[in-house]
Amino acid sequence: MNEKAKVITSAAIKGGVGKTTISFNVGCYLARQGKKVLLIDLDHQASMTSNYHFNDTQKVMSDMTEIFADAYDTSIKDTKIRPMKIDENLYGLSTSDSLDKSGNLFMGMNSGVFVLHRYLNFIGAKDDYDYIIIDTHPDFNLATENAIVCADILLIPIQGSSYSFDSILKMQSKYNELQKSIIDINGNSYVNAQIIYFGNLVEFNTASSHQFIKDMQETDGFVGYLHKREAFVSSEKKYFVLDYLNNKMESASKKNTKSAEKEYTRASKAYTEISSQLDNLCKAFQQLG
Ligand SMILES: Nc1ncnc2c1ncn2[C@@H]1O[C@H](COP(=O)(O)OP(=O)(O)O)[C@@H](O)[C@H]1O
Ligand SMILES: [Mg+2]
Repeated sequence: MNEKAKVITSAAIKGGVGKTTISFNVGCYLARQGKKVLLIDLDHQASMTSNYHFNDTQKVMSDMTEIFADAYDTSIKDTKIRPMKIDENLYGLSTSDSLDKSGNLFMGMNSGVFVLHRYLNFIGAKDDYDYIIIDTHPDFNLATENAIVCADILLIPIQGSSYSFDSILKMQSKYNELQKSIIDINGNSYVNAQIIYFGNLVEFNTASSHQFIKDMQETDGFVGYLHKREAFVSSEKKYFVLDYLNNKMESASKKNTKSAEKEYTRASKAYTEISSQLDNLCKAFQQLG
């Protein structure tokens, strides 16, 4: 069978670089373009889960913690855990803080890194969705390894400061280690993602941000960057960032004052920039994997 879903795993060594923000907003953007998208939260801090706005029942019924809860797959054979609808074309699997403890159960078991793969097969997700986007915790724990094993594309957000180049090297060496350790009987690795880098939180017009962009453009796999934009903070946990900016433009255009005009211009600039960068990122997904 021809599996259609492209699996994108967002990972980084550091927290606070925009993994969750980018995963959620790219998912919303693709869904608005008519693609069927599944978001999977595998970070036990559950930030993406709170973006779904699920009620308690929906949270329990889509909680990935149950899938990682036992080492012998009975959890997958009988599970009722399913993606729940967030919005048109957009579905989510959530998480809870106990996901963090599940790694211990699989200690020393090679099969522990294939739990997510088996669950996605079980629910037929690869035939059902166009894109599966997985958010992870900033370390190489068991859940992150599961997400990387499933990935066609490994999306690594890089924070816009020169120091972050260190994190590219660290990430590459972690990835190489994992690739060497998860191999089949013939020595072929199960880890075969294309790595792409996406700049985030880039300051406007500073010497170090110019240098960052220049260096990133020379880095293999670099596909674009987002500026540091207040809209991401204000829309966090509430909306898709482009909806937030649209609302701002609409409410500003109803008023007829100088400050409303300024607000309109600011929101419209941010809208144009963010949508064009999200578009670049989605084009890169289409070309890869
Ligand atoms: N481009 C951006 N501009 C401004 N704030 C951002 C941007 N991207 C992310 N943020 C903010 O930075 C914080 C960390 O982002 P988050 O996506 O939670 O990072 P991570 O998932 O890597 O820990 C959040 O408060 C988020 O709203
Ligand atoms: Mg996060």
